[in-house]
Amino acid sequence: MDIIRRTRAMKDAAAAARAQGKVVGFVPTMGALHEGHLFLLRRAKTQADFTVVSIFVNPTQFNSADDLARYPRDLARDAEMLAREEVDVLFAPDPEELYPPGGTTFVEVAGLSDRLEGESRPGHFRGVATVVAKLLAIVDPHIAAFGQKDAQQAVIVKTLVRDLMMDVEVLILPTQREADGVAMSSRNALLSTQERRAASAVPRALEAARAAVEAGETDAAKVAAAARAVLEAEPTLRIDYLELVEPERMEPVPRIAGATLLALAVYAGATRLIDNTTLRS
Ligand code: PAJ
Repeated sequence: MDIIRRTRAMKDAAAAARAQGKVVGFVPTMGALHEGHLFLLRRAKTQADFTVVSIFVNPTQFNSADDLARYPRDLARDAEMLAREEVDVLFAPDPEELYPPGGTTFVEVAGLSDRLEGESRPGHFRGVATVVAKLLAIVDPHIAAFGQKDAQQAVIVKTLVRDLMMDVEVLILPTQREADGVAMSSRNALLSTQERRAASAVPRALEAARAAVEAGETDAAKVAAAARAVLEAEPTLRIDYLELVEPERMEPVPRIAGATLLALAVYAGATRLIDNTTLRS
């Protein structure tokens, strides 16, 4: 596996692979890798002959300096994991490589970016859309894989790829979970033992919503209340938002008719966790 730290070298390596007729697959990450990331990468590898994983803790998508400083980082361990997976290139640029001085261009997916995560974290999706556009411009992959764990991010990426006329197939892959149902996340490493235990209420809340829908409930407020009750029974958690939305526009829905996304964010101490599930009446 090559470790590439410079934009120019990454562009050249990906262009050389394309010139050899290889299908280029790409998985952007912020590192502190877990099985969720590896799942994306293994799936991308089944469709690609040349696989690139990026690790870049993107400063522009953090809305607090504290959160950015606290974000887990372990490039040496990540590089070992990726080498074992036989990734072709690990792209790990420094911030100045992706944001050279004087840069003034940002990408904004209007509307969608202001809801849910965007409402709680102003500017977050502007940072995500900008860095994803830059990474796709550098790697220019045929295929790029993202996780449904970040459902709103996934829709934003699909939208920006369409609107900026990029020729990349965006794969959205299912959320990988721990044995107790907690979604894998780099942020789980920040949880205390008690917070980690409390986090298992999150998948139970999603399950309570699914059970309500299976029992015939279609009133979104009542389904949300079933999930909310599970989280509220756990004193270590604080709900940031919990909403039922239409899965493309992310607008709230009053009733469950067709596919509906239940998306939530909770705080366990200082750590913010997000999760979601798709409900169908
Ligand atoms: P990061 O949180 O590192 O996630 C990288 C990719 O892994 C994202 O597409 C995310 O949705 C996916 N992922 C995370 N946890 C997952 C899980 N449990 N199961 C399946 N997929 C999972 O998301 C980002 O980084 C950044 O915003 C990024 C897109 C790299 C832009 O900076």
